[in-house]
Order: sequence, then structure tokens, then C-alpha cells
Amino acid sequence: MKTHLPRAAPSRGARAQAAASPLRPPARTRIQAPPDAGTGEAFLARDGRPLRLRRIVPGDADALRRAFARMTPEQIRLRVFHVLNELPEPVARFLCNVDPDKVAAFVVTDDDGGEIRGEARVHFDHVTESAEFAIAIDPAFTGNGVGWSLMTRLIETSRAHGMRAIWGHVLAENSAMLDLASRLGFSREAVSGEPGLLRVHLALAPTR
Ligand SMILES: CC(C)(COP(=O)(O)OP(=O)(O)OC[C@H]1O[C@@H](n2cnc3c(N)ncnc32)[C@H](O)[C@@H]1OP(=O)(O)O)[C@@H](O)C(=O)NCCC(=O)NCCS
Repeated sequence: MKTHLPRAAPSRGARAQAAASPLRPPARTRIQAPPDAGTGEAFLARDGRPLRLRRIVPGDADALRRAFARMTPEQIRLRVFHVLNELPEPVARFLCNVDPDKVAAFVVTDDDGGEIRGEARVHFDHVTESAEFAIAIDPAFTGNGVGWSLMTRLIETSRAHGMRAIWGHVLAENSAMLDLASRLGFSREAVSGEPGLLRVHLALAPTR
């Protein structure tokens, strides 16, 4: 079972609303001034579009909901392993308010900070000293190195946080994620009792 996003446990009302809504931006959403316009590290997508990478902040909740609404149903299935029509507002707020001892979450935004083009997070397990990742990229920005940039940042951050490994569950048909993980050095293995699910894993050398 995929963690992080669905386990945010939306209220019953929010679940009913999510089930009833088609995949579209939340109604009555007003696009407000971006919370962190111009902040974060600037980089260029492979196709030349200017982007920025920074940590997620509480003010990202509306932009995260809009980003979720732009994902295809297939992308959502690959990310959360089930059907989810929209990101309920309480879940978006939960995802943007991270406890830094437990979670590190990053977004890639447009250069002006207006829209989120990729989001990725790791959940630190201090008992096993390993970090579980999850990632999703705007479908209009895939194949442009955004996933690579975010995964690289998750690896660096997990290492700096004292984690000895980073891992994630990936559906076996998710060739894009498996390819990206394998280029980053992850190994993969079957998950016992979960046909169709793979676990990708990368051991992390400690920082000196
Ligand atoms: C899987 C997913 C995260 C990939 O993101 P992406 O932004 O398209 O990935 P990238 O563009 O960074 O990587 C794609 C390619 O560039 C390569 N690449 C990118 N930057 C690179 C770099 N600096 N150096 C070397 N290779 C690089 C990747 O290895 C890959 O190879 P390809 O050219 O053969 O396609 C994205 O498709 C997605 O959001 N899928 C839906 C959600 C999902 O599946 N999540 C995973 C489960 S949690």
C-alpha cells in the first residue's frame, strides 16, 4: 500500500467530495500571488524552460491542488496506487505542513513560483535509518530532468539526515520511474505477497 498521500486520512466529507468530483481544478479556486515567487534554486528544464527547486511551504497548498488536478488519472494511479479524483484541501494542507524531523518535501515551480511542476518527498524512519520516497511530475514537464533533479535532492537530503538508505514502492509497469531509479543507482526487488509491486532501494554512504 502506498504511503504518505492517501494515509493523510481526509475527513469523511472530503472523501465523499473527492469520490464525486471529476478530475478538474477545485471549484472557485482563485490563483493568488505565489507564496515564494523568485525563491529556490534556479535551473533549466531540458527543453529550456526556467524552473526553481525549493522546499515545500504551507502556502503551497492551493498550488499543490492545482498541480494534482493537472495530473492524468494514470499518473495518479502510479503515484498513489488507486483512483483519486482530486486532492482534498485538508490533505493538501497536511502535505504542505511537514515536520522536518519526519519528512523532507520539495517542489519544482515555474520561475515566477506560480505553479508547481513537480513534488517529491521522503519520510524518515529513524528506527530503520531509511527514507521512503514518493514523487510526481506535471505531465507537461515529464522527460525534462525535473524528476531527476528532485530525486537527486531527496537522496542528498536523506543522506544529510543520517539515513543509510532511500527506497520506494513502484508499480512493476511504471517503466519511467524504474528507469529513472535505475539510472540513479537504485536496485529493485519484488515485494513479497504484492504481485505487480517492486521495491527500489539505494544504499547511502554517510556524509563526512
Ligand atoms: C516517473 C516520473 C517521476 C519521472 O519524472 P521525469 O521528470 O519525467 O523524469 P526525468 O525527465 O528527470 O528523467 C527522464 C529521463 O532523463 C534522464 N535524466 C534526466 N536528467 C538527467 C541527468 N542530469 N543525468 C542523466 N540522466 C538524466 C532520466 O534517467 C530519464 O531518461 P530518458 O532520457 O531515457 O527518459 C514521472 O513520470 C511521474 O511523475 N510519473 C507519475 C508518478 C510516479 O510514477 N511516481 C513514482 C512512484 S512514487
